Amino acid sequence: MGKQARAIVDLSLKDLVKDLNKAYCDEWLAFYLYWYMAQTVSGRAYEDMKEMLEKIAKDELEHAGELADLITKLGDVPVANPMELEKGANSSYLMPPRNTADINRIIRIVAEAEAEAIEVYNKIAKKTFGKDHVTYQLVTHILSEEVTHEEMFENLLER
Ligand SMILES: [Fe+2]
Ligand SMILES: [Fe+2]
Repeated sequence: MGKQARAIVDLSLKDLVKDLNKAYCDEWLAFYLYWYMAQTVSGRAYEDMKEMLEKIAKDELEHAGELADLITKLGDVPVANPMELEKGANSSYLMPPRNTADINRIIRIVAEAEAEAIEVYNKIAKKTFGKDHVTYQLVTHILSEEVTHEEMFENLLER
């Protein structure tokens, strides 16, 4: 992003990048959690669950990439050290269930992680609305995908 592009951001850039980096860390934790559960899920109907987890893991990795791109455009860098991902995230890592066949627990974990993501992006969207159009556009795009993820898993709970 050039000088003028940064100049039109009507917010503290330092603050904004901090928020985006926290969300970036969240996305990596979510990706790893879903990907891990997709590899290890077992028991009845494990194939459907594996497929859903793989699909959303892919979305979360994409979100991490989109955030990294934006942070870079804003003149900063995303968190470089993987050891710092959990410390830098908005919430701590949700451990996958010990019992890999516990589909209900998996569903609850995903629903909780998605609810947290929705809260995070809602906050950034409110903060950037009318102040940083580029960030606003990206976070509302990500937000809409997190809403879909939550719905996919909440529907399974209600069944
Ligand atoms: Fe995400
Ligand atoms: Fe998600």
